[in-house]
Amino acid sequence: MVLESRPENMQRINGPALAQAYIDERIAMLREQIGEKKVLLALSGGVDSSVVAAMLIRAIGRQLTCVHVNHGLLRKGEPEQVIRVFRDEMDANLIYVDAVDRFLDKLAGVADPETKRKIIGAEFIEVFAEEARKLDGISFLGQGTIWPDILESEAGIKAHHNAGGLPEDLRFELVEPVRILFKDEVREVGRALGLPAGMVERQPFPGPGLGVRCPGAITRERLEAVRESDAILREEFAAAGLAGKVWQYFTVVPDFKSTGIRDGKRTFEWPVIIRAVNTTDAMSATVEELPFALMQKLVGRITAEVRGVNRVLYDFTPKPCATIEYE
Ligand code: XMP
Repeated sequence: MVLESRPENMQRINGPALAQAYIDERIAMLREQIGEKKVLLALSGGVDSSVVAAMLIRAIGRQLTCVHVNHGLLRKGEPEQVIRVFRDEMDANLIYVDAVDRFLDKLAGVADPETKRKIIGAEFIEVFAEEARKLDGISFLGQGTIWPDILESEAGIKAHHNAGGLPEDLRFELVEPVRILFKDEVREVGRALGLPAGMVERQPFPGPGLGVRCPGAITRERLEAVRESDAILREEFAAAGLAGKVWQYFTVVPDFKSTGIRDGKRTFEWPVIIRAVNTTDAMSATVEELPFALMQKLVGRITAEVRGVNRVLYDFTPKPCATIEYE
């Protein structure tokens, strides 16, 4: 099969009219390629896989089966949003897999960052492959590959990992309807497909999810503190008009405790570290200058609402010398 490349003279999709033209063209191509056959898609809820899902639903409806694996490292509300948008609103054929215990049990006691990543990646493929084997007559695998993935793997910067590692018997023919698009174009197409703004404008979120924001060995309690503090941060950034402005922002709960005081009693609890950075290519990053009033609001809410937390810190370190994530 000849893999498609972005035509050199292709116009940048920068508005609804061009997005609609792209969608119309692709839907015709998808129907032609797929015919009456079936397609399987791993739907994480990230921008790329969500746009691919929405496009395939338009093109072939219930010939598409989406599998959403909840590995327990997603942000608050994400699995619910995937179910609401795709199953309830778009009537997708969606399989929701609650694999939370499987992942967290495998990760228990594992502190090394790269080992954690490997376990998460391998377990994901395992769960997805199990679901794929339960289905009959799948011919194609949908993928949210985008043009920068191809450029980066050609340049040797990043191994193009989409679908990499699926076992031999599951090497289906690929369907990659956003392969020739840049990220901003994928978002434009997503908007034109009617996906919610919160899904299309999402900040980058690493594959290993909150797992890399719970440094060292993950425990359910500390993971919950990461998830709850991240939700508060996102809420307050949105309220302060920073949601679309700051490139990436999140919380980290490191594996140490310090002394505090609550209701006149001594506490011994974790800190929450806030990270908010700006970048264009994620190779280097600067720290966002947060308004002090917002910082105070965040400290107040996080220490009042997140269990097991008695301190809030702000990370002032640019990249380099720190990376954006903590592991
Ligand atoms: P670092 O921490 O390397 O992050 O400065 C740069 C950007 O890459 C994201 N990131 C990841 N994305 N899998 C991913 O899909 C990963 O293992 C991973 N690690 C970091 C990070 O969120 C940031 O946007």
